Amino acid sequence: MYSAYEIIAKKRDGEELTQEEIKWFIQSLIDGKVADYQMSALLMAIYLNGFSTKETASLTDVMLYSGETLNFNVDHVVDKHSTGGIGDKTSFILAPIAAACGVRVPMIAGRGLGHTGGTVDKVEAIEGFNTSLTLKEFQNTLEKEGLVLIGQTGEIAPADKIIYGLRDVTATIESIPLITASIMSKKLAEGAQGIVMDIKVGNGAFMRNKSQAKKLARSIRNTGLRFGRNMMTVLSDMNQPLGNTVGNSLEIIESIETLKGNGPKDLTDLSLHLAGGMIHIAGLAKSHSAGIRQAKEALKSGKALEVFRDMIKRQGGNPKVVDDYSLLPQATHHHVVTAPRSGYIKKMQATEIGLHVVSLGGGRHKATDKIDFGVGLTFHKKVGDKIKEGDPLVTIHHNEDQKEDVLKISDSLIQQDIRFSPKKPSTLPSLIYETETSWCH
Ligand code: URA
Repeated sequence: MYSAYEIIAKKRDGEELTQEEIKWFIQSLIDGKVADYQMSALLMAIYLNGFSTKETASLTDVMLYSGETLNFNVDHVVDKHSTGGIGDKTSFILAPIAAACGVRVPMIAGRGLGHTGGTVDKVEAIEGFNTSLTLKEFQNTLEKEGLVLIGQTGEIAPADKIIYGLRDVTATIESIPLITASIMSKKLAEGAQGIVMDIKVGNGAFMRNKSQAKKLARSIRNTGLRFGRNMMTVLSDMNQPLGNTVGNSLEIIESIETLKGNGPKDLTDLSLHLAGGMIHIAGLAKSHSAGIRQAKEALKSGKALEVFRDMIKRQGGNPKVVDDYSLLPQATHHHVVTAPRSGYIKKMQATEIGLHVVSLGGGRHKATDKIDFGVGLTFHKKVGDKIKEGDPLVTIHHNEDQKEDVLKISDSLIQQDIRFSPKKPSTLPSLIYETETSWCH
């Protein structure tokens, strides 16, 4: 028989916990035999003293089996997950591209909370699109059609929900082993045989610096390998919005434009890089670069766009949105913010930009808030771009009763969130910092 007190004390003193101790502790938490305050104390001890790869795998294991786990009867099942960023809409582009190349893509995505939007909210801008399939329907659709997108369900890794709730209020979110176990328990339960993990780094991301992001990438790859998954981790920039739009309908339109070959370069390049990675770790391309070539072909031929259209139809949405954007919710008013002086854009504060969209109603302050799909921001210039005084910088898409918010946002964008410089910045953020692949055999 174990004691919560002794396990907490052991981790407090920097010792390694056994698999049995971790399993017992988490199982007892789920059963209500270990109290929230004891779990919170253990979380803080893990935050301060760390967790080995073995301990992280044990925690992931018990969280993973706290709920349903899926096992597909088909091959080449690969998912992509992003740690979250502003304007990150790559899922809508890379999933149809990878599916068009023979990858089976089972997406269980999140809703937005805080400054980043959520894939599920964005796709629900398409009226009727059903993200609430049962796990059985999810599995059948994946096996038959090769692409399916639903929202997170309470049946997958329910222990994560309890533990994440405690981390959120005890300042223990930013712990690499705890983030690893949280993300990987859900991803492993969803049954993918390979996982591409896009780890965002920068002022709009969870990971603010590269060295922390690299540690998280290594921890995620190691954990995936222990569970027999092929893994690719990509460190990508989040020091400005990805693409030119932030906001639900706007991001769907930009994704469709990208699938038509008219997307902004950063969004197109990252989507192809990640899709190429999925094709490669699914075993359908010999190298990552061969995977990217296949991805480019699926984009160019229009096949990926057709796969996206079919998915919308299958899941109850109106596929005509692909050709007629007026079928998507739109804001009624537009305000163009112009450049206050000539020069260059030196920097952007991505988190603040995300929060402006939330304040317009495009995201949530609390889980029960309703989303306004039409509002958002369109960026006409990005970091490094040359500007002339009076050039359009950002369009704010808003509704009639939001004129005061618009003035506040406009002031904030010009005075704080977009930084200008008279000279061309000597260094610009790269789009992709690192890509690592690990094979499980
Ligand atoms: N996303 C998750 O699902 N869990 C974390 O701990 C952090 C990001």
